[in-house]
Amino acid sequence: MIKKFQSSKMKPTDPCYCHSGLPYNECHLPIEKRLRDLSRIGVEVPKREMVKTKEQIEGIRKSAEINIAVLDYVTKNIKEGISTWEIDRWVTEITRDMGGIPAPLNYEGFPKSVCTSVNDQVCHGIPARNVILQPGDIINVDCSTIRDGYFSDSSRMFVIGETTPEKQRLVDVARECVYKGLEQVKPWNSIGDMAHAIKTHAKANGFSVVRDIGGHGCGLEFHEDPYVSYILRKGTGMVFIPGMCFTIEPMINMGTYRIFVDADNNWTVYTDDGKPSAQWEIQVLVTNTGAEIITY
Ligand code: MF3
Ligand code: CO
Repeated sequence: MIKKFQSSKMKPTDPCYCHSGLPYNECHLPIEKRLRDLSRIGVEVPKREMVKTKEQIEGIRKSAEINIAVLDYVTKNIKEGISTWEIDRWVTEITRDMGGIPAPLNYEGFPKSVCTSVNDQVCHGIPARNVILQPGDIINVDCSTIRDGYFSDSSRMFVIGETTPEKQRLVDVARECVYKGLEQVKPWNSIGDMAHAIKTHAKANGFSVVRDIGGHGCGLEFHEDPYVSYILRKGTGMVFIPGMCFTIEPMINMGTYRIFVDADNNWTVYTDDGKPSAQWEIQVLVTNTGAEIITY
């Protein structure tokens, strides 16, 4: 059992519920006062449940250790001729050897330990023996780990051999989008500020941002609130406060933003126009001054 937060009424001088060690009135109390004011004028504000405690953050970091190690292994070993089924086997074995559980396995019926999305697959590709990586392919490997009940989530793109300049640029711009978004993550900025930075960079490069799928809070569960949209307008959406933990994972398409779900497996998402899609994912923690990268 993970204790989510201290729900009892707190006195201003009590230790803050985030377990920073500071008194409530020097930590999250002034933040909550400001949130109340913002909420009154219609701004979307986070619930206290979204603030991770010090212990929870430690747990999420330990989970992230595995997630990062798994993706580091994939980075070193992925190449032409490997099947996505083999990538699934690596992920399963390394995660278990390190004391974790692959979060995707059996998640809402997902059949494998990792998502592998090639070329025009946007996300949620299912590893298979007959999907063998070819020179010029671009592939997203999306790993998520449970360790001692805590969740971590991140993904990276890989280019198999050499690809076309246009696909290479898509991969590079998708990564840049994540870090443009990250620059906007700090207390009192909003999800829309982050989304705006991402969309502006994608558009400036002639690419589109997927509208129907976003990121998510992550830590005590695989997918928790808030839903993180990458298409909101600047200054809209939920504001950030210290202790929030969520993913930045915009899907960037070379052509249309439109997508569809594979009717045979009900999982794999494709671009409508068959043009390639790229995605990088990091998990971040909002700090007092900005954000810290938890997974990459
Ligand atoms: N890892 C994906 C994400 O970034 C979610 C995959 S759900 C699964 O949110 F079931 F397909 F694994
Ligand atoms: Co995610």
